[in-house]
Amino acid sequence: MKSFIIVSLASLLIGVIALGSGAYNMAATEKHWLITEKIIEWVRVSSIKSRAKDLQAPPIGDKDLLLAGAEHYAAMCIDCHSAPGHEPTELSQGLYPQAPIFYKHEPATDAEDKVEHIKAYFWVIKNGLKMTAMPAWGRSHDDKTIWAMAIFVDKLKGMTAEQYDKLTDADNNHGHGHDHDHDQGHE
Ligand code: HEC
Repeated sequence: MKSFIIVSLASLLIGVIALGSGAYNMAATEKHWLITEKIIEWVRVSSIKSRAKDLQAPPIGDKDLLLAGAEHYAAMCIDCHSAPGHEPTELSQGLYPQAPIFYKHEPATDAEDKVEHIKAYFWVIKNGLKMTAMPAWGRSHDDKTIWAMAIFVDKLKGMTAEQYDKLTDADNNHGHGHDHDHDQGHE
């Protein structure tokens, strides 16, 4: 028992010295080991699932919400998450982890799965994700707007450039302006 404690403490000390000397590479260009990636993925999925499960989603077929979501997505999300008919940006290419490209994902066929996905998206959009570039939009947007974005993110799956342009076209979107009550001046 005594030697076990000594070996454990010695390993811990060596680990701390190695990390303090700069042995660990924090570069975004240096990928995690596969095992580390799997563990992060498992922790992320479990964390989001347990926090999103009791949320109440609004009716997901609501056209007004979808259009509001499209408008916000086009203004705030495509630099990282891209959109049908758009090239990857300089920003998106440098991200690690990479931002998911939703329009390339397969749509869920099961209605219940769809709602579960939308609830998870709502939680992530509102709260952001630690140690990734995903911001917490709940600091600047109300829940209704965040549900709108979550619904649109799900709708993006398998979307064509033509469908995307139609949904995000400002002329078709009267009354669904990107009406922020803060003045960041990016839209
Ligand atoms: C600065 C880059 C950046 C911006 C801007 C950004 N995101 Fe993200 N987002 C990310 C990254 C990176 C991830 C992946 C994190 C990970 O792998 O854990 C992510 C993850 C997500 C996820 C989780 C996906 C999943 O399958 O779990 C959702 C949903 C999301 N973003 C929606 C949005 C929406 C909506 C907007 C615009 C309001 C937005 N993001 C803006 C970088 C960004």
